[in-house]
Amino acid sequence: MSLIIVFLVVFCITFYFYRSKNVSYWSKKGIPTAPGCNWFFGNYKPILFTEKHISTLYTDMYRLYPEAPVVGFVKMSTPGLLIRDPDLIKAVLSTDFNSFGKNEFKIDKKVDKLFGYHPFVLSGEEWKTSRAHSTPSLSYSKLKNYYPVLLHVGDELIKYLNKGCQETSGSGGVIELETKDLGSMFTTDTISNAIYGIENNTFLDRNSLFAQLAKEVFSGNFFDNMRTMVNALFPEICSIVGVRFASKRSEAVLLSLTKKMMKEREESTGETRNDIFQQMLTFRQNGKADIFTDEYIASHLYAYLLDGYETSSILICYALYELAWHIEVQDKLRAEVQEMISRTNGDYTAEDVEGLKYLNMVVCETLRLNVPLPVMSKECTSDYTVSDLPGLDKLLEIKNGTFIIIPVDGLHTDEKYFPSPLKFDPERFTDDEVAKRHKFVYLPFGEGPRKCLGQRFGLLQSKIAIIKIVANFHITPSAKSKYPTKVDPAVFLLRRPEGGAWVNMKPFK
Ligand code: HEM
Repeated sequence: MSLIIVFLVVFCITFYFYRSKNVSYWSKKGIPTAPGCNWFFGNYKPILFTEKHISTLYTDMYRLYPEAPVVGFVKMSTPGLLIRDPDLIKAVLSTDFNSFGKNEFKIDKKVDKLFGYHPFVLSGEEWKTSRAHSTPSLSYSKLKNYYPVLLHVGDELIKYLNKGCQETSGSGGVIELETKDLGSMFTTDTISNAIYGIENNTFLDRNSLFAQLAKEVFSGNFFDNMRTMVNALFPEICSIVGVRFASKRSEAVLLSLTKKMMKEREESTGETRNDIFQQMLTFRQNGKADIFTDEYIASHLYAYLLDGYETSSILICYALYELAWHIEVQDKLRAEVQEMISRTNGDYTAEDVEGLKYLNMVVCETLRLNVPLPVMSKECTSDYTVSDLPGLDKLLEIKNGTFIIIPVDGLHTDEKYFPSPLKFDPERFTDDEVAKRHKFVYLPFGEGPRKCLGQRFGLLQSKIAIIKIVANFHITPSAKSKYPTKVDPAVFLLRRPEGGAWVNMKPFK
């Protein structure tokens, strides 16, 4: 008995010293260090206990040392470095990509077949191959093929809203709705159609297969969030005990759906579809069968479904919310949209949409103030040193394995780059204003070789939803939400409005 007690005491002391050794890791090197570092959790206690959203944690750290180029912290027991200096951010994301080309996510393919092959998770040669194969699917010429689908889903969205307004004719035909929910319905259908080639109508069936699959990871419910968080924080343990991002059910459903679709397409003699799925099949048939396995294809399709669905629906959500609270911006935008519609007799092209300057400014400002991915995390993959870093009077040494944070939300709300940063003001994005700023202080899509693959697609689909709504409805604030909304601390990594972002919509006619 006493031997067990001695063993436990020795174990606890060793564990304590092992975990504490990194608490002073950065201060010993003379690097400004975030306060509140705990020997067991590092700086991550508020995240694990969902007291703070991860973006709030890092934005607070960012603001604490306004003149420092970097801030040190500890993630559980791993030293992490938050980069504040835009030139060093440029080096990490772009010029010295070879030392930082890995996203800080570890997922075991054997445990989680869908997430394990996600392009965001892959690194090294596997990532290069995946990126090379994925890029053509989202190129500008392919985007044009998806454009009619986006317009069609936009029309379904308007039908849905009109129906809702007719049903509320007793209260003046005004419909009160939550914009994240509306954005998610729209993007579920655009993505399922453009990526999988499956006509899915979430506006008619809220429980459609794709609505269920897309919601599974970003459901916002407590257990899903905990699973995502624990998986991101303790990947090694999760791989041993078999915790996964994608549930077994969605893995089984998507694998069998992908196989069924493959069989149908391979046997089909009719017209070839032009979706992303078809492009993967073409690669497979053209001698790349060893890479394009069933699991690889299913996983990539799932990646596009999730990436394309969630981030764009967050953009649509906040854009509609900002427009409701900034009527003068809404009126100016509507004038631009109506001019395009009358100029083209309602038959506007993707180029017409992309040519709307004010819409682009509104979208850019929405992404600045409400960036869907408020932090990017990378891993240093080889020892890296920087001398003469402005604001640091010593050499900065970043060791292989160090966790790197790019504090996107902190940069986007720094008054040094964006005066009166909490004011929603699209005029910050005129060509002249953009040219005055450092490119690496505005990063809604990341930058460098790992920059978002679906940027153009995400922007185009979000703009179509906004155009359709602004051309048909007045958007006003609802009593259910305050401005600005708070970030929901229970949702891991991505930004979502706590309690939703509610607005009222009323049709013109
Ligand atoms: C408004 C919409 C979107 C936003 C704000 C957004 C944002 C981002 C960001 C910040 C990254 C990380 C970049 C980095 O690590 O440096 C990323 C990566 C990625 N995004 Fe998006 N995204 C959007 C839409 C889409 C869409 C529509 C798709 C696909 C259909 C997509 C596919 C991807 C993929 C595959 C990656 C991983 C790229 C890689 O690691 O090589 N995204 N996105």
